[in-house]
Amino acid sequence: MTILDGKDLSQRIKNELALEVAEVKRNGGKIPHLAAVLVGENPASQVYVRNKVKSCEEVGFKSTLVKKEEGITEAELLQAVHDLNNDPDIDGFIVQLPLPRHINEERITLAIDPKKDVDGFHPVNFGRMALGMACYLPATPFGIVTMLERYGIETSGKHAVIIGRSNIVGTPMGILLSRKGKVGDCTVTITHSRTRDLPGMVRQADIIVAAIGIPHFVTGDMVKEGAVVIDVGINRIDDPTAKKGTRLVGDVDYAAVAPKCSFITPVPGGVGPMTVMSLLMNTMKASKKEIYGG
Ligand code: GUN
Repeated sequence: MTILDGKDLSQRIKNELALEVAEVKRNGGKIPHLAAVLVGENPASQVYVRNKVKSCEEVGFKSTLVKKEEGITEAELLQAVHDLNNDPDIDGFIVQLPLPRHINEERITLAIDPKKDVDGFHPVNFGRMALGMACYLPATPFGIVTMLERYGIETSGKHAVIIGRSNIVGTPMGILLSRKGKVGDCTVTITHSRTRDLPGMVRQADIIVAAIGIPHFVTGDMVKEGAVVIDVGINRIDDPTAKKGTRLVGDVDYAAVAPKCSFITPVPGGVGPMTVMSLLMNTMKASKKEIYGG
């Protein structure tokens, strides 16, 4: 069994990006610049955004944090999005979700210029992905396919069973794994809360992507010998033996499942660290105008 070490791999990719930025600087080119909009005081969002800004600094990108009060109106936030769309120095930006309840997330996402949508959440980028065109891939799926590629995991002809059908993980993973190409050519089953005999489905999988948000949902008896297991879950559970009284676990019962796998991602340290790296890779693509030209 091989552990897919997202911490180590994301650091290696960051080092590659840092070399690329240094080269751009030496040649007097434009330094990639990411902006992040953070609305309100959501503690998890603050941690995520801080992490993204810190990672930008590590690779030599410019970053701008745009902080807005919880009480900002939708019109004011739309104006902030328009300002970033029109700022020539900003290559890409994200609006950290969730937004306060009085703001319509869909309207905000639609207002982002697809050329700067390094989260890959705009329907133009999602549509381009579905059609196999160049696009900004959403961070988690991009991180997962990068991991499969860099570890040289064969996907062609394999049966991939995805647990969960969210817009940002399950559905795009199904599209990516079933398309033609290097990480692709799988036969894909997307399972969800209405799936009949979900354990039976998962038992048939050569590749399992667990993205359902339920701690330890995938148990040892659900996993075929030699399967590749990608655990997207980040669940905080009570643990009286831990210093904080809680700990992070995935959607997979790691202790029971790991011995049966050919490859498995740990939680933490698997898919999580790869997602920030995806955002940096998308920002680099934006800076080089790789996808939309111009
Ligand atoms: N909230 C949780 N994950 C994400 C993400 O990848 N992007 C944004 N914008 N918000 C999030």
